[in-house]
This record gives sequence, C-alpha cells and structure tokens, in this order.
Amino acid sequence: MTSPPAAPTAFGTPETLPKVAYGKGVYVYDDAGKQYIDGSGGPSLFCIGHGHPEVGAAIKAQIDRIAHGYRYTFTSDPLEALEGLIVEEGGLERMVFVSGGSEAVESCLKVALQYHAANGEPSRRRFIARERSWHGNTLGALSVSGFQARRAPFEGALIEASFLSPVNLYRPPPGVAPDEVAAYCADELEREILRLGAERVAAFIFEPVVGAAGGAVPAPPGYAQRVRDICDRHGVLLIADEVMCGVGRCCAWRALAYDGVVPDIMALAKGLAGGYLPLGAAVYRQRIHQRIVGTHGEILTGHTYAGHTTACAAGLAVQRIIRRDGLVAKAKEDGNYVFARLRETIGDRDYVGDIRGRGLLIGVELVADRASKEPFDPELQLFARVRERALDNGLICYPMGGNVDGVRGDQVILSPPYTATRSELDEIIDKFGLSLKQVFDASPGKP
Ligand SMILES: Cc1ncc(COP(=O)(O)O)c(C=O)c1O
Repeated sequence: MTSPPAAPTAFGTPETLPKVAYGKGVYVYDDAGKQYIDGSGGPSLFCIGHGHPEVGAAIKAQIDRIAHGYRYTFTSDPLEALEGLIVEEGGLERMVFVSGGSEAVESCLKVALQYHAANGEPSRRRFIARERSWHGNTLGALSVSGFQARRAPFEGALIEASFLSPVNLYRPPPGVAPDEVAAYCADELEREILRLGAERVAAFIFEPVVGAAGGAVPAPPGYAQRVRDICDRHGVLLIADEVMCGVGRCCAWRALAYDGVVPDIMALAKGLAGGYLPLGAAVYRQRIHQRIVGTHGEILTGHTYAGHTTACAAGLAVQRIIRRDGLVAKAKEDGNYVFARLRETIGDRDYVGDIRGRGLLIGVELVADRASKEPFDPELQLFARVRERALDNGLICYPMGGNVDGVRGDQVILSPPYTATRSELDEIIDKFGLSLKQVFDASPGKP
C-alpha cells in the first residue's frame, strides 16, 4: 500500500470552528460577537454579501406561496424568469437546474455523453481535462479534476480521463517561454485528441479562470480561442466550468465572454444564487438540446430538486440586483483597484511570488524563493497558518495548498463580494497584509 500524499486541506474540524451567528453586507459575526470581514465571499460564493434584504424578501415571498413545484409537474415564474436571464447573459439557450457546482459539472458531463450517443457517435466517451483544476466532489466531477489530494482515496474507482498541463504563466510547462504558453497548451489538447483518436473523445472541460486548485489563474490571451478551434475541428465539445469564475466575478457575466469564446456547455453555481440557497445550472446550446430530444426524447439528467422554485426565486433576486446595480462592471473596476493595492502593499515581500487573477478573483502565491519560485515545504501547512491567522484578525480569505504539483504550493484567494465598498476592500487588503506579516514574522524564512 502506498502512503497518501500530505493532504492540502485548509479546513478546521468542527471542534475548532467558530459558530456563525449572522451576516450583514461583507461582514459575518460569530456567536461570541466577533466580526469577520468576508474577503473571499466564503469559497468565492457570496457575490452580493450577506443578509441582503431583497433576497430574503424574495425567498420568504416564494416559500409563503409554495416552496417547490416539482419539475415533472410544474414550471414556475421564478424558474422561467431566471432561465430567461441566464439565456440573455450566458449566450446559451438551454439548461437544467441543479443544486450546486458538482451537480452542475456532473450534468455537463452527462449532457456531453448523451449528445454524442444521440448523434450516432457513442464511442465518444473520453473526457480531457487539466491538471491543477477542480470540478467537484461527485465521482464524475472528481474524475475530471486534477487535484491529487482530493482524488487519492478514490483512485481506481474514478472514470478514466486525460490530464493536460496546467495553463499558468507564472509556472509554464518546463522549457516553454511565457509567450508560448497559450499555443503550447492548446496544442497539447490537439495532440491528446489525436493520440486517443477523435472518435473516442467526448469533451474538453476547463475552468476559464482556475479557482481553488490553482489560485485564481487565468489562461493567457489566445488560449481559449485556440482551444475552441481545436474542439470544433475534431467534433469535441467544449465545457466551461464557470462555477467559481462565472456570474460576473471575472470581468464579464460569463468569464469566457472576456476571451471572446462561447462554449458548448457551461457549469454555473456559486454566484448564481450567491450562497442564499443551493443552486447551479448546466447550460448548453440549442443544437445539443435538439439532437438529444430528437433521438432520446429528453435530457437524462437532473434531480428531485431540479429548478427548486425557492432556490430559483433566490437566484433571480440575486441576478436582478447584480444587473440593476451594475455589479459586473463594478467588480471589474474594483478588481483593478485590489490588484494595484496588493502590488503596492505586499508585492515586494520576499515570500510573495505572484499576484494574479481576473476581476474579483485574485490569487496570491507564496514562495520560499522568489527567484527560483521554490514553494515552501508542504509539511509547514503554510496556507493553513495564513487562514488561521487571518481568522484571528477577523478576515475570511480562501487559502489552499498543492497548487504547484498537487502537494506543494501555498496560495490565497481573495474574492470579495461585488458589493464591497472601497473602504471595505482596503480593510480586506490591510488585514491580509497584516496576517501574512504576522505568520512570517513569527518565524522569518521558515514560518
Ligand atoms: C470550478 C469549480 N467547479 C465545481 C465546483 C464544485 O462546486 P460545489 O462545491 O458547489 O459542488 C467548485 C467548487 O469549489 C469549483 O470551484
């Protein structure tokens, strides 16, 4: 038996976690009255902050009427209105609602498989994904996730998938110059399709801006377009996992719109209902819908809670607020502000290797040596120390380990609610800088 790798998990046990009491705007309070500023919107989830009265009112109004109209019996106003909004913002015409990100990805994978079966190409079963990516905890989503520590206990039972190099300008594949990363990594996809035989490949799934597994890593310009062309050439479907980067966080409502690319299938969750109720969606092109329905009669995915009426009412309220208050544009501008302030305040510190991201999905990678980009010893669990220190200081951020090779690497994501004011963003940046300083001052060079 091989021993498991050091597990880069940043989560406390229930015994050590504070007990949440309530939230208001970007602030969360525990039952001892301690205030935390939510610098990461939890796990990049709470896009309009906490306790928004309009969302609360929408949820209450719906639940007072009826909690849920089951999908095979009823449609509903909130479901139809939210669908309409997603079609307008997302550029894809059809969807199935689910209860979160893993389910959304799971349904995306199934839609791809069912499409090929319906299209007379049932041999297209294989998924291609990327290392240092995260798509979720269900078996299918985990099978296409390049997150070693989370996969390890399940290896042998996962669906076989191909994994390509991470697409990361700070850590390019060996021997590849930064300005060649886009072309090199896209061409890697084509090589893998040809190696497998295109007739065996169902889809390529990727995060347009990698979230937890990489630490807010956008692909360089040109990559997404090139990948789109390769998929088209070989009849491979392109699945964009926008669970973390979508819904306005990364300079456009749909992150891939920033790259000028439309995927065939897209996973949405987190920001859709902003953490108020569990909601996600697998969204896909009309032609996929038509082919599947034409051959099999219906899309064979979705669950009892699909299109849960109150969850859709929550999602609709969140999306209407985002639209009405111009929060996508605000998040873009605020992202530039946070980048500039981070560079100014912590950019010169010895242990800050990279500050990257897009919009309000920002990652700070911590390194032992800036010149060589050598990560810290994973035994130190540095990212977990940062998390603890930040919580002590009343800051919620999103640190994670393993971004370099699955085991080594420490990075922290800042992804505040789009509603945060400039002074609240300043507070997040100051508390983050202080927390890092305290961790490293405690034991310079070897925290
Ligand atoms: C990109 C991405 N996909 C999928 C998931 C899984 O979502 P959930 O945890 O809601 O199941 C996550 C969660 O962090 C994610 O970041």
